[in-house]
Amino acid sequence: MSFLTLQGISKRYGDFTAIEHIDLSVERGEFLSLLGPSGCGKTTTLQMVAGFVSPTTGRITLDGRDITHERPEKRGIGVVFQSYALFPHMTVAGNVGFGLEMRKMKRAQREARIAEALELVRLRGLDARYPKELSGGQRQRVAIARAIAMQPELLLLDEPMSNLDAKLREEMHIELRAIQKRLGITTILVTHDQVEAMTMSDRIAVMHGGKIAQLSTPFDAYERPATPFASTFLGRTNTLQGEVLRRNPRCAEVAVAGTTLHVPHEGRHVDGAVNVYIRPEKVRLVNGDARAGDGRLIGRVVTRVFVGNQWLLVVDTALGRMHVAQPNYGAPPPDEGHEVALAWTDDDLRVLGREDTHGHA
Ligand SMILES: Nc1ncnc2c1ncn2[C@@H]1O[C@H](COP(=O)(O)OP(=O)(O)O)[C@@H](O)[C@H]1O
Ligand SMILES: [Mg+2]
Repeated sequence: MSFLTLQGISKRYGDFTAIEHIDLSVERGEFLSLLGPSGCGKTTTLQMVAGFVSPTTGRITLDGRDITHERPEKRGIGVVFQSYALFPHMTVAGNVGFGLEMRKMKRAQREARIAEALELVRLRGLDARYPKELSGGQRQRVAIARAIAMQPELLLLDEPMSNLDAKLREEMHIELRAIQKRLGITTILVTHDQVEAMTMSDRIAVMHGGKIAQLSTPFDAYERPATPFASTFLGRTNTLQGEVLRRNPRCAEVAVAGTTLHVPHEGRHVDGAVNVYIRPEKVRLVNGDARAGDGRLIGRVVTRVFVGNQWLLVVDTALGRMHVAQPNYGAPPPDEGHEVALAWTDDDLRVLGREDTHGHA
C-alpha cells in the first residue's frame, strides 16, 4: 500500500464543491506537487491531509493507518502554510528549535539540527534575530527551516517560496529537493508555479476546478498533456483549432484553416472538433532553401523579443498567430516585418478533443 492515500475525497462548503472526488496515492520518499491556478483546491486538499479541514466524503490513510478523523497534532506531519506564523517573541533559532525542544531533544543535537536547517535556507548567522527584524522572504525561510528541522515523515508545503526573489527561489528549489531526497522525506508541495513544480517533483498532479486533471511525471505533464487545460497551463503552447478529416492507424488528418496537418493521436479517440497543439520551442525558423521538417508554413514576424537565452517571436501565418521560441545561437533571427518560413516535425504536434476535459466540469 502507498505511504499516503486519498480515496474518494471531496469537500463541500454548503452548495459549493471545492474538491470533487479525488483519488491520490503518494509513495514513501516521493516528492509530489499539486499544481494549478488560484482557487482550484490545492490548499483545501493539503489541509485535509494535515487535518485542519475535514473531508465531506472519503478516506485518508498514512502508512496504513486511517487518519481521516485523527487530530492534526497526532498525525506527525510537518506543515509549512501559506501564512507561516512564527513566534514573534522567539529568535530565529528559538523558532526553528521549538518543536525539537518540545520533543525533549538534547541541546547539542538540537543545535546541530538548527544549524543544518538554517544552512539549508541560507540563514546562517541570523540565529539571534527576531522575526520582526527579517524580510518577508527570510521569515518564509525560517518557516521552512522549522519544518525541515523536525525531519517529519511527511512534509506538506503550501506555496512556501512565494515571497522569495527569483534567483533565491531557484537555488532553494534545488537545495530543498536535495535535502528531501537525502532525508527521504515524503513531500507534497502546493504551487501555482509550473517551473517550481517541474524542478522539484517526481510527479505532478495538475488540478483544475477541484479535480485532478492529470497525474504524471513532469516530462509527461509537459510533453503529453491529457486535457486542453493541462496543455495551456504548463508552459506556453500554440493552439490551432481544427476538424478531424480522417483517423489513420497512427495519425489523424486534421484540417486547420484549409491546411491538412498529420497529428499523432497516440491511440486516443479523436473525432470532430479538436485542438492541435505545438510548443513554441518545437517550431523552427528555417531558411527558404533549408531542408524542412514535416510541416512548413510561411509567415511574417509581428513581434520579436530578446530574453537572453532565447528569442521569442510572434509570427502571423495562414494558421493564425504562432509563438516561436528560438535558442540564442548568437545571430538575431529576422526582425519584425520580415517574412520567415516555419517548420516542425509532425511528431511534435498533439491533438485533443476540444471537449476533452477529462476531469473538469
Ligand atoms: N472555508 C471555506 N469556505 C468556503 N469556501 C472555501 C473555504 N475554503 C476554500 N474555499 C473555496 O474553495 C476553493 C478552493 O480553495 P483553495 O483550496 O484555497 O484553492 P487554492 O489553494 O488552489 O488557491 C475556492 O473557490 C475557495 O474560495
Ligand atoms: Mg492556496
